[in-house]
Amino acid sequence: MATAWAGIGELVTNDRTHPEGDGSALGIITDAAVVEEGGQIVWVGARRRMPEADERRDLGGRAVIPSFVDSHSHLVFAGDRSAEFTARMTGEPYDGGGIAVSMAATRAATDDELRALLGARIAELRAQGTGVVEIKSGYGLDVPNEARALRIAREFTEETTFLGAHVVPPEFRGSATGRDDYLDLVCGEMLTACAPYARWIDVFCEPNSAFAFTGEESERVLRAGLAAGLEVRVHGNQLGPGPGAELAVALGAASVDHCTFLSDADVDALAGSATVATFLPGVEFSTRSPYPDVRRLLDAGATVALASDCNPGTCYSSSIPFAIAVAVRDMGMTPVEALLAATVGAAKSLRRNDIGVLQVGARADLTVLDAPSYLHLAYRPGVPIARKLA
Ligand code: NIG
Ligand code: FE
Repeated sequence: MATAWAGIGELVTNDRTHPEGDGSALGIITDAAVVEEGGQIVWVGARRRMPEADERRDLGGRAVIPSFVDSHSHLVFAGDRSAEFTARMTGEPYDGGGIAVSMAATRAATDDELRALLGARIAELRAQGTGVVEIKSGYGLDVPNEARALRIAREFTEETTFLGAHVVPPEFRGSATGRDDYLDLVCGEMLTACAPYARWIDVFCEPNSAFAFTGEESERVLRAGLAAGLEVRVHGNQLGPGPGAELAVALGAASVDHCTFLSDADVDALAGSATVATFLPGVEFSTRSPYPDVRRLLDAGATVALASDCNPGTCYSSSIPFAIAVAVRDMGMTPVEALLAATVGAAKSLRRNDIGVLQVGARADLTVLDAPSYLHLAYRPGVPIARKLA
């Protein structure tokens, strides 16, 4: 059955080539319509040329954009770390130590509890305009709990990421060989158990945290993942300068995420590569870290993405409109750059060309704004104007 969405005052297609578009990177068509059938877009254009459809819905002149692609989240967790956040607001630094708190609560939860928590979080992000979401494991940190997190995440998304190398769990921290023993487990039995449920492998490459992994340790994990058929993404350069970005480029990662502390060499390496630099402004907001210098990467020609990083530690917000508002207000991105980064840029970081864009053949992931223009995303921070159309 074909459904026509008509009465779209401003349609952002991200398709520069549409003949009725404005020729900009956002490919804006005014007074537009979109027809979908079976979850795919079959027609996009000016409303006056709209073909017949079985059902017609009118959006009353609102703006429509491609649904946000949230290419970085940690949504499978139980427990509460609001006290840790509150302590940070009065000066406590973030060092990754709280991950063990979420790990303990996540291990203690039943499958049904985790499924219900995840389902509620997915509903929350759809209500804020997100379509496809990537979901990482990383709060199980043992074989059954990492595999369980990915199995449950797979019920909600095809973009699942094995993050057994999030931190060294407490039970491996005491001894001299503990780190290596944990890495043996991650690269062996845990990877074997998790790979069937995962598309991606990720690692928290962060020599500035005692709990996360060095460049060499990270490379070992990522190479094991590649050998098991997984594709690579990296947490890098979050807490300080480090080897994450260069490692990501060297291994052909789809994305390196955070990028808060990049050297000139990192920027050059990213700009000359197909690795997307993903920024997570909610993390800097919620940890009081300095914001990354995204302009350096944009001006060097790198592909950039914006995502939520929704997680219980560094950013418990699933709102991409919020990330866009912060990116525009505090990181010097233009509203155009921020919207592109949160849609087509994030889609590239997942190696997808069927999302983040509204054109024939793409997924019918439409987000309507209770506003006349995409400019309102940054202009109306904290106001729930975006929602994904069912
Ligand atoms: O992306 N940096 C590593 N992992 C998460 C935070 C995890 C946590 O503190 O629970 C992040 O920021
Ligand atoms: Fe993260």
